[in-house]
Amino acid sequence: MGKLVSENTVEGGNSNVAESKPGTWATDGLRSMDKSVFNKFRRIVYEASGIHLNDKKEALVSARVAKRMRRLGFSDHRHYLNYIVDDESGTEIVHLLDAVSTNLTHFFREDHHFKFLAEELSAWHASGQRRFRIWSAGCSTGEEPYSIAVTVLETLEGRNADIRILATDLCTEVLGKAIAGEYSTKKMEKVPGGLRSKYFTKKGRGEAAVYNVGDRLKSMILFKRLNLSVVPYPMSGPMDAVFCRNVMIYFDNQVRRKLLQEFYRLLKPGGCLMVGHAESLTGMLSGFKTIKPSLYRKT
Ligand SMILES: C[S@@+](CC[C@H](N)C(=O)[O-])C[C@H]1O[C@@H](n2cnc3c(N)ncnc32)[C@H](O)[C@@H]1O
Repeated sequence: MGKLVSENTVEGGNSNVAESKPGTWATDGLRSMDKSVFNKFRRIVYEASGIHLNDKKEALVSARVAKRMRRLGFSDHRHYLNYIVDDESGTEIVHLLDAVSTNLTHFFREDHHFKFLAEELSAWHASGQRRFRIWSAGCSTGEEPYSIAVTVLETLEGRNADIRILATDLCTEVLGKAIAGEYSTKKMEKVPGGLRSKYFTKKGRGEAAVYNVGDRLKSMILFKRLNLSVVPYPMSGPMDAVFCRNVMIYFDNQVRRKLLQEFYRLLKPGGCLMVGHAESLTGMLSGFKTIKPSLYRKT
């Protein structure tokens, strides 16, 4: 089986939430955001990432920004806004995006996609294909690309194949965790016992035990920071499968269209796109055939 890519590092440069009502004093002593300040934050976030923060996110953004401001010693949102705008290094916007992004994920989430991937890999291999390229776009803390890697190994074990998995995210914090590849016992619940012992190493006991991803899985995956809202993406494909699940839900249709055009460009004819089951792409998917809800094939 082909060896994969190394150099997994995260480069910048490109949460606990408390509820508080707009315009009131939050318990941490910071005045919570008023509407105009929230609007400025959301414009900055949208321009930098395509993430559309709707009105319901105001309390969440306020709490997360407050946490970051406390760390930097700011007590006034406007001063913090100026600090972001004046920061020519681009570092602070990365921290802001880390603070406001939603990174919920788990192993084998929406597991019908992994069953489907296994079937496709077997069929492609049977038809003579030996090169496989899969992309986890919006990979969060790594559970998705590691689930893909396990699926690939379980399907193509012992067969001749050159496999690479690309895993990208905007958020540097989650990428750091993905690269570290260490998961609590709770997070491992969705990984069947046999696969756990085969691909992970357990450290410690009981509730405090952690599982480390083995080198075999790690060597298959290249983790990179990539902002999906900035097109064209710096790769040429062709890809066999793109997992972009529970990411487009944070974008508006204008940004979603850009992503879908790029996925179309990068996928091979017959290649597959998996999206989250809650993501409606009705009317936006020209050039794709629906296989099942949330599962599409490039025609
Ligand atoms: C809810 S998680 C989904 C993780 C995984 N795909 C899954 O379905 O379990 C959404 C991820 O999208 C990432 N994201 C949001 N905006 C992004 C952008 N503009 N470019 C790349 N990743 C982005 C977030 O940082 C987050 O890790």
